Amino acid sequence: MTAALWVRGLSAGYAGSTVLRGLDLDVPAGTVLALLGRNGAGKTTLLHALFGLLRPTAGTVHVHGADATGLATHRLARSGMALVPQGRRVFAPLTVAEHLTLAGRRRRDGRPGPDRADVLALFPRLGDRLAQRADRLSGGEQQMLALARALLLRPRLLLLDEPFEGLAAAVTARVAALLPELARASATVLLVEQRVELATAVADRVTFLADGKLTPPTGEAPP
Ligand SMILES: Nc1ncnc2c1ncn2[C@@H]1O[C@H](COP(=O)(O)OP(=O)(O)OP(=O)(O)O)[C@@H](O)[C@H]1O
Ligand SMILES: [Mg+2]
Repeated sequence: MTAALWVRGLSAGYAGSTVLRGLDLDVPAGTVLALLGRNGAGKTTLLHALFGLLRPTAGTVHVHGADATGLATHRLARSGMALVPQGRRVFAPLTVAEHLTLAGRRRRDGRPGPDRADVLALFPRLGDRLAQRADRLSGGEQQMLALARALLLRPRLLLLDEPFEGLAAAVTARVAALLPELARASATVLLVEQRVELATAVADRVTFLADGKLTPPTGEAPP
């Protein structure tokens, strides 16, 4: 099976503190991998290093078989990677409808995946807020918009950093049910999630980040 992500010996951190210490990671295409770990373990640091937001100090990253080590975020995005970042989103002062339109325009043609009607069915609340400025939405609504936007880009590899934070239980359940389906159909998913039960329910495999490495190791798929 092709690896959507194949990472060896990845190290990264911040001035004076190394967070990832020679981490190995394999995510087979078409699967969902959930990443657990205590607060401050380095989950966000890992996603940032994968998406070119933080420069690794060592290691190799292959994305769908191609060497992507050290590539800039816009290159990774063009190759089909998308990130839903953790915490408060930063939105341009555009309406919800405008954000959805922009995401729809940026998507890669010919890729399968949800369209505007699908994401509005998933998040009916956004349908009620189409004319609202995105930076004036509630935290939960912003979370839905961040997810909707990422889905509309039709990524091949979707990185989700605690995407259920601030979502109501019913919405969480709908998104959780969608992820395995999405992975099979079009987008491999790397999900950071703190709740073990939710991670286990959604993911094909679950791994734990501690001391800058993953336990258990995620496998030995070839690049
Ligand atoms: N911009 C930064 N500059 C310096 N240190 C940072 C920075 N961001 C994170 N850290 C530190 O790096 C370590 C890993 O943080 P990170 O945010 O990756 O953890 P996390 O697993 O995502 O935590 P959480 O579950 O709280 O989101 C922590 O010790 C944190 O304090
Ligand atoms: Mg984090």
